[in-house]
Amino acid sequence: MGSQIWMCLWLCLFRFLSFIHSVNSEGEGAGGGSIEGLVRINGMESIGKIDDDFVCATLDWWPPEKCDYGTCSWGSASLLNLDLSNNILSNAIKAFSPLKLRLGGTLQDKVIYDTEDNKQPCPVPFVKNTSAMFGFNKGCLPMKRWDELNSFFLRTGAKIIFGLNALPGRTLQRNGSATGAWNFTNSEAFIRYTVKNNYSIAGWELGNELCGHGVGTTVAPSQYVADTASLHNIVQNIYKGVEPKPLILSPGGFFDEPWFKEFTDKTTTSLDVVTHHIYNLGPGVDQHLIEKILDPAYLDGIANTFSGLRNILKSSGTSARAWVGEAGGAYNSGHPLVTNAFVFSFWYLDQLGMSASYDTKTYCRQTLIGGNYGLLNTTTFVPNPDYYSALLWHRLMGKNVLSTRFAGPKTIRAYTHCAKQSNGIVVLLINLHNTTTVQATVSINSSWTLRHRHKSHKAYRSHMRKKHHDGLRTKRVIGETEREEYHLTPKDGNIQSQTMLLNGNALNLDSSGNIPNIEP
Ligand SMILES: *[C@@H]1O[C@H](CO)[C@@H](O)[C@H](O)[C@H]1NC(C)=O
Ligand SMILES: *[C@@H]1O[C@H](CO)[C@@H](O)[C@H](O)[C@H]1NC(C)=O
Ligand SMILES: *[C@@H]1O[C@H](CO)[C@@H](O)[C@H](O)[C@H]1NC(C)=O
Ligand SMILES: *[C@@H]1O[C@H](CO)[C@@H](O)[C@H](O)[C@H]1NC(C)=O
Ligand SMILES: *[C@@H]1O[C@H](CO)[C@@H](O)[C@H](O)[C@H]1NC(C)=O
Ligand SMILES: *[C@@H]1O[C@H](CO)[C@@H](O)[C@H](O)[C@H]1NC(C)=O
Ligand SMILES: *[C@@H]1O[C@H](CO)[C@@H](O)[C@H](O)[C@H]1NC(C)=O
Repeated sequence: MGSQIWMCLWLCLFRFLSFIHSVNSEGEGAGGGSIEGLVRINGMESIGKIDDDFVCATLDWWPPEKCDYGTCSWGSASLLNLDLSNNILSNAIKAFSPLKLRLGGTLQDKVIYDTEDNKQPCPVPFVKNTSAMFGFNKGCLPMKRWDELNSFFLRTGAKIIFGLNALPGRTLQRNGSATGAWNFTNSEAFIRYTVKNNYSIAGWELGNELCGHGVGTTVAPSQYVADTASLHNIVQNIYKGVEPKPLILSPGGFFDEPWFKEFTDKTTTSLDVVTHHIYNLGPGVDQHLIEKILDPAYLDGIANTFSGLRNILKSSGTSARAWVGEAGGAYNSGHPLVTNAFVFSFWYLDQLGMSASYDTKTYCRQTLIGGNYGLLNTTTFVPNPDYYSALLWHRLMGKNVLSTRFAGPKTIRAYTHCAKQSNGIVVLLINLHNTTTVQATVSINSSWTLRHRHKSHKAYRSHMRKKHHDGLRTKRVIGETEREEYHLTPKDGNIQSQTMLLNGNALNLDSSGNIPNIEP
């Protein structure tokens, strides 16, 4: 009895009619109990609106010498050494058209931009130094590399958010804080260079994990407010006459209620996006990651963060929106065969669903490539299972998020969006239980009903889409449904497999490195 993930997509021809549709899925009678459940969706209003390019991934600065718990998982995945001519990498990004990429991470606050005016030495790459903050000396981005990166982004249609070094000018204090104003001279020159060369940057973000209690060091919220205003002014000035203007994002760190509240209340005019990071599973070395991922109570723990930030944004006068700017689940580079295996899709898709339901606009996965949590394998560039989860989400889930409640076992998790490419809806159902069969009935604002009978093992996820399709009306009986199903399983029923099956067939690149078609 293997583990499975189901994705079903229901196409319903008429929107406000009641009907019942029942499906018998495979494995019926193969053992395990059957439990009834009801997915209740309020189709009348949206509780959140995501960006069209909600799915985002990160590229980081970590050099090959970055190691955690005795393993070095970054290879050549740094912004400074990533192989930009790799065919799979290009195809993987192009498949999203566009894929939002956030460039940043811990070492971003140690990067010197080697613009013409820069007088500091420009050491490429980062050199390991255990007594330096973050374990490395300062590094440098040569403009030649920046040119190459931008031609790569243009060619692959990536949409770039760039994380700027927010530490120049500050003094590190004994108590761990960094005081003094941000010296933006080097960043300003870098932005100027970028604009002069017509490189398209969708957003500039200030700093990485310097807010709240910080990682390495912290900057007080009042100071961060002033620095964010400086960034806003620099950008307004440099982009004079250039449209569209890039977004201003900040602070890019862990949510801390008082810090974020003060920061948000005071940045009402200079900030477009409040970014925060999520590593709610603990350190990558944890031996209990899988248990946490499959525990609904554990997954729910992070909802406080999303609701806390949403409430702060609502109550402040800001028009800034919330993004998850970096989320790798397990910090210190993740865990091999967990954060890059099938099982991690339970965490990842749940995160996408949950964050969207709290009106998060964009969710950046750490990483596109690099560490043990890459969407792509660091050495071979071959997509890991979460790459396909990301792609499916991107193609199916539309802007509007609908309130969804599941009455039944807690191991079923349900999220609904309007469909991306039609008038229908897409329901994402995740079954964290390995043996329970769940017979789920889907009801949308009581105006119509879907019934879905389901046998599932370790996992079950279903995408359903209701579609209004006038063109087919004459051919169809009123109330008839159409359903598209995406049934995902891990290879050999092993949730720690790095190969995902779609409707029984392995999702593999073809011999030229093309991303396979994702068809129901
Ligand atoms: C290592 O970092 C410390 C602290 O920043 C610095 O004083 C020292 O010079 C660095 N060592 C080398 C070899 O770069
Ligand atoms: C840390 O020390 C600096 C300088 O003495 C001070 O300005 C700052 O408020 C202190 N921060 C904290 C969190 O204690
Ligand atoms: C900011 O840093 C630059 C070097 O990048 C330096 O020349 C300048 O004097 C600094 N400005 C201030 C106000 O400290
Ligand atoms: C940037 O675009 C402007 C206007 O389209 C053009 O005049 C200029 O030559 C471009 N510069 C570069 C470096 O491509
Ligand atoms: C990348 O793929 C290779 C070949 O399949 C595999 O040996 C390796 O473990 C993978 N790396 C990671 C980090 O999963
Ligand atoms: C299901 O999960 C439980 C708890 O993780 C485990 O003890 C049991 O062996 C699993 N059963 C199957 C059939 O995989
Ligand atoms: C449908 O949604 C509306 C709007 O939220 C709500 O007021 C109403 O109670 C819902 N109807 C049913 C039957 O659930």
